[in-house]
Amino acid sequence: MTERHHGVKPFARIAGTGKAVPETVLTNADLEKIVDTSDEWITTRTGIKERRIVQRGEKTSDYCIKAARIALDEAGVKPEDLDFIIIGTISPDMRFPATAIFVQEALRATNAVAFDVSATCSGFLYTLNLGESMIALGRAKTGLCIGAEFLTPITDWADRGTCVLFGDGAGAAVLTKAEDDRGILSTYIGSGGDASHLLYCVGHGTAGFINTGKEDPSERVIHMKGNELFRFAVRAMEKSGLEALKLAGLTMADVDWVIPHQANMRIIKALGERLECPMEKIIVTIHKYGNNSSASIPLALDDARREGLIKPGQNVLAVAFGGGFTWGGSVFRF
Ligand SMILES: CC(C)(COP(=O)(O)OP(=O)(O)OC[C@H]1O[C@@H](n2cnc3c(N)ncnc32)[C@H](O)[C@@H]1OP(=O)(O)O)[C@@H](O)C(=O)NCCC(=O)NCCS
Repeated sequence: MTERHHGVKPFARIAGTGKAVPETVLTNADLEKIVDTSDEWITTRTGIKERRIVQRGEKTSDYCIKAARIALDEAGVKPEDLDFIIIGTISPDMRFPATAIFVQEALRATNAVAFDVSATCSGFLYTLNLGESMIALGRAKTGLCIGAEFLTPITDWADRGTCVLFGDGAGAAVLTKAEDDRGILSTYIGSGGDASHLLYCVGHGTAGFINTGKEDPSERVIHMKGNELFRFAVRAMEKSGLEALKLAGLTMADVDWVIPHQANMRIIKALGERLECPMEKIIVTIHKYGNNSSASIPLALDDARREGLIKPGQNVLAVAFGGGFTWGGSVFRF
């Protein structure tokens, strides 16, 4: 049996989690009617069987609020006790105010500072890094970290290379001060822009119509060169995992569960091989939610906890990568 290390004393812990996903399910069979694709292609190339999609009129903040309320209930934390609300999202309600402000208002979290972080699929781990740092520095005691995306409204439904991949949802975690050796043992984040053209969406940015005056419908949607991203994704997640473990003073032998960003089942399997981690220890939700960017890790975390997979005292390694590029890893003990 492996002896556990207890080298790092955590500053913050995850005291509650919550999630919210749309009720509407879009299956691979449904997609076969929209673009030239097949359940067989999508399943073998990605592992995705279905995804959840939002309806017209819904907003990213609606799902953040639902997920946050569940997490707050579990943690026994009142909204007025929150010192921060940080949301990782690339699909906010508006250009401004930040989606976190709408969540703050709905929760009546009057004592919190609320802001968004744009870090694509690594967004949730960025919020965890910031939240943990604020608690470690004594600038906050309690806060909310959320990963939330509405990707399907910014998906090109004529592009079979991307529209089969994405889904919508939100996941939340309440952070409080750690009381013992359970908590966030490390957070590691990084970024680099040398291949930003492989995955981007101009949206309402100044690089687009708003400043150029040239209307181009393709600005509205996600552009991706999936096959070129693939190799980078595996390498970045492996590096992030190893860095996060090093910072936590642990090795893979100490890890009970790995929660990777859910971009593609083949990427997840390749990561498992590189980390020498058996698939039984890897939390997979891609078959039911698809890739929902910054929401994927907190959604998988919440599902795994509620299914009773993650038990008290166990070590979890979360790893992500995303457009930008961005990447990150974190080790936490429940
Ligand atoms: C997107 C992805 C599933 C595509 O798989 P792939 O094996 O790389 O496939 P390719 O893009 O090389 O395309 C291979 C063929 O399948 C076709 N194809 C693409 N999407 C298809 C679909 N939905 N259904 C059927 N065929 C499809 C392509 O047109 C291409 O056909 P061609 O050979 O006739 O030109 C895969 O590259 C991937 O998941 N990459 C990582 C993406 C990612 O992680 N993005 C998010 C970052 S957070």
